[in-house]
Amino acid sequence: MPADVVLGLSYGDEGKGKVVDYLAKNYDYVVRFHGGNNAGHTLVLNGHRIAVHALPSGILHPHINNVIGNGCVVDPLQLAKEIEEHGGPTALKGRLFISHAAHLITPTSINVDRATGATVGTTGRGIGPTYAAKMRRTGLRMEDIINGDIEVWDTFREVCGIIEPFICNTQNLLHTAHASGANILLEGAQGTLLDIDHGTYPFVTSSNCTIGGALTGTGLNHKAIRKVIGVAKAYTTRVGEGPFPTEQNNDIGDKLRKVGGEYGTTTGRNRRCGWLNYSDLRKACELNGVDEVVVTKLDVLDQFKMIPVGYPNGLERIQYSEWNGWNRPTKGLRDKTLLPQDALKYIQHISTITRAPVTHISTSPEREDMIVL
Ligand code: IMP
Repeated sequence: MPADVVLGLSYGDEGKGKVVDYLAKNYDYVVRFHGGNNAGHTLVLNGHRIAVHALPSGILHPHINNVIGNGCVVDPLQLAKEIEEHGGPTALKGRLFISHAAHLITPTSINVDRATGATVGTTGRGIGPTYAAKMRRTGLRMEDIINGDIEVWDTFREVCGIIEPFICNTQNLLHTAHASGANILLEGAQGTLLDIDHGTYPFVTSSNCTIGGALTGTGLNHKAIRKVIGVAKAYTTRVGEGPFPTEQNNDIGDKLRKVGGEYGTTTGRNRRCGWLNYSDLRKACELNGVDEVVVTKLDVLDQFKMIPVGYPNGLERIQYSEWNGWNRPTKGLRDKTLLPQDALKYIQHISTITRAPVTHISTSPEREDMIVL
């Protein structure tokens, strides 16, 4: 039985959380494989907004086994808080599993990140220093809680007992689940252009957001992967510093931010806003071997007369091709026959760029507001 992977094709905040929450009904496991609580996945169910940072986005489905894989870094205090918010240890027992090899984010890592992360514009959650300690082979891991490590218990005394029962060998768990025919969804955080190797270094996060991270961060091998689902927002946003060739640092960007509610889930920062970039989107699909694409936030473009898509012109400048807006509300649409023709043309153009079919279009933050093509 297959494992499918959901990955962001841009700078993060593509709407992966909603996509995973929507798709979760078809799966038995939802697995995070990298990153930590720098991520913020917003889920909306019946008008109720829930943000998860450390927990996988399958957490709202009682039938889902949620796994935090070995490639993740975890702030025990934040995780314990989210466990409490989702009903406490008793409610999650048997459906939350944390890798013994996931690394612990310590208060020192957070302090170092806050003191040094400004040039990159990090989220200040201690992500970079924790991965640095992992690579230096001096990191603290979840298994140190089980082993009664004095430093770990001293640092996280009040929450070790909450987390300990969830720690296990998730590589074995996932191999067994896979062998027994379970359906597994691997959930990426951040996005391709923030990947430590393939992103806009040094303005990146400290983990592999691309397809390789899904394997190293879980222990599943490539034969387990059935398909890669890429998530692309209908326009582009970026939080923090770094290049953004199609950024609209003007009235258009302000309008995208306002209509799209583009404020960071984790830090509340204004997201920088702009148009799609042909070469970045194409590259992201090539890097990840994307099989299918989900386009999110189409409805945000309802109020724009023209929708440009950026192309490099060879002189390190961007030129734009323009697509007609549709000037009709698509918010909340679920029926593909009601999609305006000009919106369909824009979507078809996106699938030309991605060289993979667009299978779903998200038309609002609500779980079920999705057009299946
Ligand atoms: P860090 O991951 O906190 O080290 O931040 C490194 C860069 O990645 C910064 O530009 C952050 O704004 C960005 N970043 C990290 N996590 C996310 C995310 O979930 N969405 C969007 N940007 C992110």
